[in-house]
Amino acid sequence: MSAQRESWSARSGFILAAIGSAVGLGNIWRFPYVSYENGGGAFFIPYLIALMTAGFPLLFLDYVAGQKYKGAPPTAYRRMIKSAEGIGWWQVAVCSIIGIYYASVLSWAGNYTLFAFGQQWGEDTEGFFFNNYLQNASELTFGYAPHLLIGLIAVWAIVLFILYGGIRKGVELANRIFIPLLVVMFAVLVVRAVMLPGAAEGLNTFFAPNWEKMADPKVWLAAYGHVFFSMSIGFGIMVTYASYLNRNANLTGSGLVVGFANSSFELLAGIGIFSVLGFMAQASGVPVSEVVKGGIGLAFVAFPKIISTMGDAGGIIGILFFGSLFVAGLTSMVSILQVPVSAVQDKFGWSKNKAVTIVGGVSAVISIAMFGTYNAITFVDVIDHFANNIGVVVGAILSIIWVSWFNRGVLPKLINHINAISSFKVGAGWSFMLTIITPLSLIVALVLSLQSLLSEGYGDYPAVVINIFGWGVVALFIIVSVVFSLVKGDKTHHE
Ligand code: ALA
Repeated sequence: MSAQRESWSARSGFILAAIGSAVGLGNIWRFPYVSYENGGGAFFIPYLIALMTAGFPLLFLDYVAGQKYKGAPPTAYRRMIKSAEGIGWWQVAVCSIIGIYYASVLSWAGNYTLFAFGQQWGEDTEGFFFNNYLQNASELTFGYAPHLLIGLIAVWAIVLFILYGGIRKGVELANRIFIPLLVVMFAVLVVRAVMLPGAAEGLNTFFAPNWEKMADPKVWLAAYGHVFFSMSIGFGIMVTYASYLNRNANLTGSGLVVGFANSSFELLAGIGIFSVLGFMAQASGVPVSEVVKGGIGLAFVAFPKIISTMGDAGGIIGILFFGSLFVAGLTSMVSILQVPVSAVQDKFGWSKNKAVTIVGGVSAVISIAMFGTYNAITFVDVIDHFANNIGVVVGAILSIIWVSWFNRGVLPKLINHINAISSFKVGAGWSFMLTIITPLSLIVALVLSLQSLLSEGYGDYPAVVINIFGWGVVALFIIVSVVFSLVKGDKTHHE
């Protein structure tokens, strides 16, 4: 190991950064469309169950792994269990891929914050988003849209600038500024949204359970995948952030604060968005389910539409909505990139600046090259689906069963460690979740969903797109995981 590991200045710095990581595009952009696609209200119960059976148990596991073993996932897992380094690299690979498309959606949010001034999207918001802004091509192309390139370059420059500041002067400082800003902007937005006429109708759709839809395993896998994405667990982020905690940090207490803050935010986002969908449904005289096309464009199509309908009063709502989306996403993007940066620092003893320059530089170039094209939204959709529903879920399963099934002596040690320093004690309940409930529910959901993915594909995309950007990405996770655990570097192991 190289120089002294950096650390948060105080527990509050860690908690803010962890909330900043958790609350992101996942809560405001992804949650509404994933729930919309999985039956609206039908998604809510699986989401809550996934949160309790897998979200919190895994959050605690991520925290203790990072804090006790002081490393990003490859190093932390290897120090915990010698054979587990590859699982850490799998998670680092998943995280890096997520970062590459996350930057793209983040740049859309930044652009839309600007478009909100004067509602530049006009009346046909769907046409504006797909045709004017993304210039979406139906076939694979190497053509570039210059304004997309500029947005991406700006996002990467800001993110790298924060990361060069390090943990305290970069990540922590950014979160201390942005999180209070986000909370205020979002609170104003949601209060305004629920006061709209028709909001109640939208909320009914959001909260109404749809039992039939719940019989579909895809809905369950989507719920688990989303909970992990949203809480920043299972792909290395919380392991990495916790690795900068001091020796006697209250792990579970912090975890409960962060987890509940994240879910409250998600719930608020859901309430806000479905209220505006209800408003739109009433204004156009159709049911909520028919008011917009679902899919990953939901936030970028539905919101501008509503804002246009509201006339001048909509202006401020637009700025608040896309501004919140951008700020929330930025603090998450920073945490996503911190994972590979920290992983190579641990393994190869690189300085922070070298790691940020190389890892950040390579990620930025790939991201800009892919998402400045006319195929940006296709890439985002396919990669997001495979990275989350397979990448994150498999990474989570592996980290859990390595501890709870194959190295059974480890869990009691982790429990002792957590309980020695934390306010909320864990024990048989946590152990039972991690040994039985979490892995089994994840494995069942994964297998059933893989079956359908293999037989039906995903969306209406041609096979070549699914094979390269879906399965190809999964193959990449495997390669990174094997190759990086074999290359020479820090190999310390201590239980
Ligand atoms: N947890 C982050 C989000 O929700 C990645 O966007």
